[in-house]
Amino acid sequence: MTKYNRSKEPASSEITSKSDYISRRQFVKAAAAVGGLALLWAGRPKPPGSEVALTESSSATGASTGDAPQIPATSVPTPVTDELGMALTSYKDVTSYNNYYEFTTDKTEVARLASDFQTSPWQVEVGGLVRNPGTYDIDDLRTKFDQEERIYRLRCVEAWSMVIPWLGFPLRKLLAEVEPTDKAKYVRFETLADRSQMPGLSAPWYNWPYVEGLRLDEAMHDLTLLSTGLYGDPLTPQNGAPIRLVVPWKYGFKSIKSIVKIDLVEEMPVSLWMTAGPNEYGFYSNVNPEVDHPRWSQATERRIGSSGRIPTIKFNGYEAEVAHLYAGMDLTENF
Ligand code: MTE
Repeated sequence: MTKYNRSKEPASSEITSKSDYISRRQFVKAAAAVGGLALLWAGRPKPPGSEVALTESSSATGASTGDAPQIPATSVPTPVTDELGMALTSYKDVTSYNNYYEFTTDKTEVARLASDFQTSPWQVEVGGLVRNPGTYDIDDLRTKFDQEERIYRLRCVEAWSMVIPWLGFPLRKLLAEVEPTDKAKYVRFETLADRSQMPGLSAPWYNWPYVEGLRLDEAMHDLTLLSTGLYGDPLTPQNGAPIRLVVPWKYGFKSIKSIVKIDLVEEMPVSLWMTAGPNEYGFYSNVNPEVDHPRWSQATERRIGSSGRIPTIKFNGYEAEVAHLYAGMDLTENF
C-alpha cells in the first residue's frame, strides 16, 4: 500500500494540465467581468494575494473591450490543489467516471448515455414551509447569485474520491430568499425523473425520483453549495447539469444531481438510498473513517487518477468547519 504523504508533490499524470486549467480560469475571470462573479477559493480565509480584483473588462473570448486595465495572467491565482495541497482530479476523470443511476449504474457509460440530456429550459421549484415560494429559472439562478469557485474533495461512499473545482453559490442564499418558516426543520431535494431521457429509471428496485435531504442548519452552512459548473465551465449532464448540490463533508450520494424541486419540510426526508438500504445508508452520511459501511471499510479511499489508497479524513477534512453541527450526537448511531 502506498504510504500517504500530504506534502508529496503529485506526479504530473495525476494533475490537471496546468495550462488547461489556467485557460479555464481565464474563462471564469472573463465570465466574472461580464457577470459579476466572485472568485473564491474553497470558501476559506484566503492566503494573502490570492484573491483577484475583478475589475478588468473582457469578453468570454478574452478580448479586451478597451477601457479597464488588464491583469497579467501571472497575477491570476491558479490553485491546482485544494487547501490541503491535494491535486485536482483531471477534468477528464471528473467528467468520465460518474455515478448517476437515472442513466446507468456503469460509471464509464454515464457520459455517453447522458450526452443528449436536455438541461435548458430548466426550472427549480422552491417551496414547502417558506414565506416566499418560487419557481426559479436556471438562468436567473446563475445571474441572481454570484458564482463562486470552490475546490472541494468529493468522497463517494464506495471509497473512491476526487478533488473538484466547482462553480456555484451557497444554498443559504437561495434559502434566505424564500424565507423558511419556524416550522421548517429539514430541506428535501428532488432530481428530475424523466423516463424518456433517463434509461436507468426502468430499474424497478429504486424508489424514484432520487431524493436527498439535509437538516436546515446543514443546508444553511456556507460550505453547502448549489453548483452550476466545474472547471470554469457549465456542469456537464453526467455531473448533474444544470444544477446540483455539493455537500463536501458528506458521502457523495448526498450531493444530488439535476435538481428540480427543493422543499422546506418539518420531518426528516427519506432519501432514495435510505429506502434502498436502510442498514447501509443513513440520513447523515457524514464521511467518517471510524464508521465502516456494513460491507467494506471506510478507513481509506482511492483517489481517482492516483495509485494506492490514502487515509480517509473525518468529515472529509472539513471537521473544523462542521463538527459543531453534530456536537453531542453519536455518529455511529446517526450514520
Ligand atoms: N444524484 C442523482 N440524481 N443520481 C445519482 O445516481 N449519485 C450520487 C451523487 N448524486 C447520484 C446523484 C453519488 S453516489 C455520487 S458519488 C455523486 O453524485 C457523484 O458525482 P459525480 O458523478 O459528479 O462525481
